[in-house]
Order: sequence, then C-alpha cells, then structure tokens
Amino acid sequence: MVLINDNYLRLPESYLFSDIKKKVTAFKASHPEAKIISLGIGDVTRPIAPVIIEALHSAVDEMGHPETFRGYGPEQGYSFLQEKIVENDFKARGVELDTDEVFISDGAKSDIGNIGDILSVKNKIAVTDPVYPVYVDTNVMGGRAGIMEKDGQHWSDIIYIPCTSENNFVPDLPAQRPDVIYLCYPNNPTGTTLLKEELEKWVDYALENDSLILFDAAYEAFIHDENIPHSIYEIPHAKRVAIEFRSFSKTAGFTGLRCGYTVVPKSLRISDESGKRVEVNKLWNRRQTTKFNGTSYIVQRAAEAIYSPEGKKQIQESIEYYMRNARLLKNCLQNIGLQLYGGDNAPYIWVKTPNRLSSWKFFDRLLNECHIVGTPGIGFGPSGEGYFRLTAFGRYEDTVEAISRIQNWKL
Ligand code: MLT
Repeated sequence: MVLINDNYLRLPESYLFSDIKKKVTAFKASHPEAKIISLGIGDVTRPIAPVIIEALHSAVDEMGHPETFRGYGPEQGYSFLQEKIVENDFKARGVELDTDEVFISDGAKSDIGNIGDILSVKNKIAVTDPVYPVYVDTNVMGGRAGIMEKDGQHWSDIIYIPCTSENNFVPDLPAQRPDVIYLCYPNNPTGTTLLKEELEKWVDYALENDSLILFDAAYEAFIHDENIPHSIYEIPHAKRVAIEFRSFSKTAGFTGLRCGYTVVPKSLRISDESGKRVEVNKLWNRRQTTKFNGTSYIVQRAAEAIYSPEGKKQIQESIEYYMRNARLLKNCLQNIGLQLYGGDNAPYIWVKTPNRLSSWKFFDRLLNECHIVGTPGIGFGPSGEGYFRLTAFGRYEDTVEAISRIQNWKL
C-alpha cells in the first residue's frame, strides 16, 4: 500500500491566499458588473524596471549562441550575482560575508519552506503571531507540529508570541525556550518593524539559549528610518545564530520572475543528536546541490541588473510609488477614524476592525459593499483576529479609487 505524508492531512485544505481567491472568484461570478480592487495578496503591479528588461534580453540572446550558451549553472548561484549581493546588501551596511555564504534561489518562499529539510523534527518552533502562514504550514508538513487546539487556530506544539496593539507589535521573549524562532521584519502581515536594540534582544536570547533564528527580510527595501536594521547581521554575533532570507519579489517586482537568496553564515553551527556541532552552511549546500539545480541564468542576470546605478534608481522609484500608496491609504483610514499600524517602513497596513467586527466579517463587508479585497488578520494566526491587512502594492489609480469607496462607506 502506498502511503502519503499524513502531515498534509492535518492542514486546512487550502492555503490562506487560495481560500481568498476562491471567495473572490465566487463573488465575481455572482456580481459580474463589480469592479473589484485587490489590496489582498501582496503581489506587485509595477512592471519590471527597464534596465532589468535589457539584462533579460541580452541574457536570452546569450542563450541562443554556442559561445555564450549556458547549461546547468552552479546550484548555489552564479558568482556575478553573489558578489553584487555581498557588496551592496551587506558590505555597504558594515556586514562582511563570503560569497559562499549566499545561496541564490527562486524566491524566499521556497527556501523558507525547504529549510526544514536540514532541521530535526524534534525542534520546538516559535513564531510571532500573526505570522506569514508559510512558516507554520511548512512545519506541519515537515512533522515538527501537528496538534491543533480546539479553537481551530493554534497548533499546540508551536509557541505563538502575540504581537498586538497592546505590546505595540514588539514580541516579548518567549516564556518557554524554542529551538527555532521565525522572525520577519519589516513584518508581514502587520507592516511593523523592530529597532536595532529590539532585534538585539532576540539575537542575545538565541545566543544564550542555543536557538536558531530564521530571519525573513523580504521587505527590507521598504525601510526608510535609519535606526531600523535591514539585516539581522547588523546585530553583533548574529551570524552565529541566524539564517536570513531575502527576496527580489517586492524589492524589484520579481514575483513572476522568481529570484531570492538565503544567507547561511559559516560560523553558524547547530547540534546533531550526539551534541556535536555541525556547520549549517555545509548542510544547506548539500541540500541545495542534491535537490536544486539553480535559478535560471537569465533570471540571475536580471537580478544582477538591480545593483547597477540605473537599476538601483529604477527600483527605488517603484518602492516610492508603493509607499505613496501606503501613505494615501493610511491618511484615508485614519481620517475615517480607524486605528491602524505599519505602512511606514513596510508595504502593509494593519487595520483594527471597527465595532469589534471579526476579521472575516470585515473581509465580507469590504468585498460586498466596496468591492475591495483585503486579507483577514485571523488568516495569519490567532492574534490576527479583529485585524485586517491591506497592501500598498496596488496600482496608484486603484488605490485612489479604493480610498474614495472607503470614504463613502457606511461602516
Ligand atoms: C503576502 O501577501 O503575504 C505575500 O504576497 C505572500 C508571499 O510573498 O508569498
């Protein structure tokens, strides 16, 4: 008898954003006249910057000539891109990395899910709550969690660290020691950030408690304030306790192109069953060389172009475009008396639902009455109940239209 991985059966049947898509499709079918504006999934709307398109074209041409054709590339990524990353994303911020500590991938989501391959099923996992569902779901798939509480919201074998307006969305250190801690800053979904000293507390905690931090920095490009760290490695000794995930999806509009990278420092060591310390970089390299044949050459050339002076300027324009949306949305929502968070150094706005409406009730009303799609906070975890996420990644005109609909809405 063939057996499936039973862990999958513990999960809700579909992923949060697939669920929302189904609801929206059903609404469209029954309201074909409605002009729906999506401020739901954090997908970008600006086209790829011209300098990146040029790089893509010339890489495509290279593939058509015998002298410049490329077959399999290095599984870890081409050095031309690794070097640019080390130089621009880290050295420029005072962080020294070797190129073989940077692994190019097809996006942060894959690596965040795949990292579980090199971690024992016995590890105790902690997440901030609300949380990007991929962290939790992939741990259930991997057998590190799987017992659901009666409320249908908590996995009892995961430590949830609440982040709400009560603690200003700054997570407290956990009462119980986790082995693995997921942190995402700027945060998805709340759009909030941590100051250097706040992140330092987590690094110190991990050093003292022999925990591993999985740090998702997919939204770092949206940071404007000087005192907010872009990388966890800006904190002293973080290389001994943290893996960092980066993505070009939001930074440069690569949600469709697919490229990101993961930093696994060589000084990061964790224990095997016998207590012997093992170099995580070597394990991840073993995993990648076995299961991954690298990101396509043309996409890596596209990513390289982001780091050219012109590329930096062009992607910055898109980031500012989205942040203008964020400011507009924030002003409008504040003016109608809603309480909201985030949106200053992140493309997400976290809204407290008014009149104690549940997240899903607010979702339904916003869709039915304004034809606007957002993401219910409860979809990100129990502490998300009573909140709602809006993204600034929409087209400017749609954001303005959404604002006008919300302003005229009888809530
Ligand atoms: C989100 O909306 O949270 C993101 O788009 C999901 C993702 O990046 O995978």
